Amino acid sequence: MITFRHVCKNYTTSGSSVLALSDINLHVNAGEIFGIIGKSGAGKSTLIRCANLLEKPTSGEIIVAGQDLTRLSSSDLRQARQKIGMIFQHFNLLSSRNVYDNIALPLELTGHSRKDIAAIIGPLLELTGLADKKNNYLSELSGGQKQRVAIARALANKPHVLLSDEATSALDPETTLSILQLLKNVRDTLNVTILLITHEMSVIKTVSDRVAILQNGVLIEENEVGEFFTHPKTAIAKNFIASSLLQHMPAAIEEHVFTEEQPHTHPVLRLWFLQGTATQPVISELSHQFDFSINILQANVEYIKKHAMGIMIVAIKGEKLKIQPAITYLKQLGVEVEVIGYVPDNIITFT
Ligand SMILES: Nc1ncnc2c1ncn2[C@@H]1O[C@H](COP(=O)(O)OP(=O)(O)OP(=O)(O)O)[C@@H](O)[C@H]1O
Ligand SMILES: [Mg+2]
Repeated sequence: MITFRHVCKNYTTSGSSVLALSDINLHVNAGEIFGIIGKSGAGKSTLIRCANLLEKPTSGEIIVAGQDLTRLSSSDLRQARQKIGMIFQHFNLLSSRNVYDNIALPLELTGHSRKDIAAIIGPLLELTGLADKKNNYLSELSGGQKQRVAIARALANKPHVLLSDEATSALDPETTLSILQLLKNVRDTLNVTILLITHEMSVIKTVSDRVAILQNGVLIEENEVGEFFTHPKTAIAKNFIASSLLQHMPAAIEEHVFTEEQPHTHPVLRLWFLQGTATQPVISELSHQFDFSINILQANVEYIKKHAMGIMIVAIKGEKLKIQPAITYLKQLGVEVEVIGYVPDNIITFT
């Protein structure tokens, strides 16, 4: 439904030039929710604004619903854009209009009669849960309700595609969840293809079917979301996942940790419990088979779709010679292991 082919975007301002997108190749299937995650400045907004040509790429093709947007005349582009809805972090609604009139705006611009407009808006108010708010002004709405209005407005012209630029970034976690649920519902009931960008892994986890990472204008890694979380391929993906699971060493311990082994220190391991291994009693096996004492410093196991996924940080006390065989044993079970430091034995206790 959306295809980027060799898309580059260069910004030139006052003599200096920034390569915001570098040879982007991407295909989003019809009816899919595709998430793009990246840090600030990665090029996410540039990418999503290219998907409706709000930003014109320097080179490359952008094909939406079978049309290469970069080759359309301005009037054909205007028409194509009517079938591409967009929502934003700060809603971009008109405060001078009430809820109903905000949703009606794109329909007025496309010349619909008042009767047609009413027939379209009724179901949209129901879908977005705004039926009892239709006469309210924006100042009377919460952030989540404003985003619902923006979603209804974006859907008014029955788009094939909905673009979401950090649509939940200004909302609290509970409201975020309800908006993401609404987006899923929109996809399920209207079969709208959704491309969303975010800097939050929790958004990707909750709503996406597939995900790609954007870094410095380059698409680094792309995968089905369960696979992405359970079998990350790049260090960048692992870092995103680790940060989303809050799996860093506790600060009180980290400040004492050495990067190289010292006398009277114990290794600290980060264990990645991949698909199917998270619930196995790996830890007790380690202590029985290798006679280790294990101190769990951090642990978090989550379920993404049907995949169990977890990261655990443990300190290990035991015979030094057994460490490497234990790591090999863990790898055989599908648990990835990283030694992330060495903690002095006076900092932590082992049972
Ligand atoms: N209109 C512009 N003119 C010049 N440079 C720009 C313009 N818009 C973006 N950039 C630059 O392009 C790069 C990508 O910016 P972009 O806004 O796409 O990133 P982002 O991933 O959306 O970041 P954030 O998460 O902070 O919104 C940045 O280096 C930015 O400074
Ligand atoms: Mg942005």
